[in-house]
Amino acid sequence: FVGSNADFLKGVVAMNGLPGDDRIEVCFAGRSNVGKSSLINALTGRKGLARASNTPGRTQEINYFTLAESHYLVDLPGYGFANAPLPVIEKWQKLLKQYLSGRVSLRRAFVLIDSRHGVKTVDEEIMSLLDSSAVTFQVVMTKADKVKEKDREKIMEQVRKALAKHPAAFPEIVMTSSEKGWGLPTLRALI
Ligand code: GTP
Ligand code: MG
Repeated sequence: FVGSNADFLKGVVAMNGLPGDDRIEVCFAGRSNVGKSSLINALTGRKGLARASNTPGRTQEINYFTLAESHYLVDLPGYGFANAPLPVIEKWQKLLKQYLSGRVSLRRAFVLIDSRHGVKTVDEEIMSLLDSSAVTFQVVMTKADKVKEKDREKIMEQVRKALAKHPAAFPEIVMTSSEKGWGLPTLRALI
């Protein structure tokens, strides 16, 4: 996985711009600033591949990355909040929903949850959308390096409870830190 060719393919702003559906596709969804782009960089071992930043709403397109000859990794725009005019936000939220509910080759959505904050209402909404679209999803906890172990357990319990309500949820939760490299081998194996 690391060292296999990962490359930026394209940024998509409308459903008709999606590439062909002949590859295995997994996507990274989550609130703005949760660490989606950083996780893609950490997974591929390519620091500047996906643009990460401290500004919520950095990723405003559906960004496609090729992994070897077989996979697409998809970096999604964040939901929840963003530093952009409302019509722009609404446009990309609509695209996000169309993508999550209508992409045939999407095998699994990774729903990223900040280890400090747990599952929020907007996460619940995305999970419900995935349920109704029959897209299997798996929760990935991010920024685990930012919380103490005992607080981590509390949040995990909250996440487990939330997941129990969602039929499309994969029960295993993956704990990660892009900064420390935690959980990356597990996630690579899943992909
Ligand atoms: P949007 O594209 O705006 O939706 O954000 P995103 O989910 O892609 O987040 P991004 O990867 O840009 O990361 C947001 C901020 O969190 C950056 O400042 C990252 O450096 C930081 N960050 C991401 N992952 C980790 C992590 O594992 N640990 C720590 N400490 N910081 C992280
Ligand atoms: Mg991003």
